[in-house]
Amino acid sequence: MMLVKTSAVALFAVFCLITMDGFAAGDHERPRKEGILLVAFGSSEKTAQVSFENIDRKVKEAYPGIPVRWAYTSHIIREKLAGKGKYLDSPEAALAKMQDQNFTHVAVQSLHTIGGAEFHDLHRTVSAFRAMGGFEKITLGYPLMSTREDMEKVAAAVTASIPAERSKKDAVLLMGHGTHHPSNAFYAALMFQLQLDDPNIFVGTVEGYPEVDLLKQLLLKKGIKKAYMLPFMSVAGDHAKNDMAGDEEDSWVSILTGAGIKCVPVLKGTAEFDEYVAIWGDHVGESLRQLGEGSIH
Ligand code: CO
Repeated sequence: MMLVKTSAVALFAVFCLITMDGFAAGDHERPRKEGILLVAFGSSEKTAQVSFENIDRKVKEAYPGIPVRWAYTSHIIREKLAGKGKYLDSPEAALAKMQDQNFTHVAVQSLHTIGGAEFHDLHRTVSAFRAMGGFEKITLGYPLMSTREDMEKVAAAVTASIPAERSKKDAVLLMGHGTHHPSNAFYAALMFQLQLDDPNIFVGTVEGYPEVDLLKQLLLKKGIKKAYMLPFMSVAGDHAKNDMAGDEEDSWVSILTGAGIKCVPVLKGTAEFDEYVAIWGDHVGESLRQLGEGSIH
């Protein structure tokens, strides 16, 4: 009796193994399906949509036939939009959906400017999906400024985004977001790179270092009379409209105007300029290449 029971258990185990193996084999026969997931911080401002639409269009033009999905890393922005009936996925939700839709190879692209906290959270998410094995391959593209080559390309994009009427004696101020994360150092590094060619370009931040008060001191020291200002963020959203160009007394425009400097704010996000978008686009291309053998790129 005991023997019969044991054999039954053994048989059942063998049956399970065969069945499981059957499922696994079926899984591996899934047809290759590549996808791109673009991940931005997000913005609830309507005007910011031009930036996202531009990136979406450029990526689709560069890599035709590969479906493009979107996710926002900012929980607050997603909540705000949900309140207006617009539902944006978190990276986790977007990847779960892509898994459900039988994508096998996914290139995730960070649309952040620097590799700060948001990018590192995204890195953790991508690593978790990789560990789960839900995709055959998943890659993550770096944010705008990552390599030395990126810095040079970004410097060229900055130059291209400056209004043509600006004379070299006028200053150009870029307003980065800024962060408590160590990658905040990228802003000063970019300023160094830019000033090699054009000593009147400055990079400051809203929430990090350098702050506008320091930039003001630098401008005054140089006797600058006029300053163009551009957001150094993918979208011209709340920070650009209010912290940079707003009427409040602590806006960049108010502070510099108060110091006798004429201000010309330009309300355009970096993703509205093709030169910047091309850098993110190159990173997508690199990720698609990393997806490896049989990739159509
Ligand atoms: Co902010």
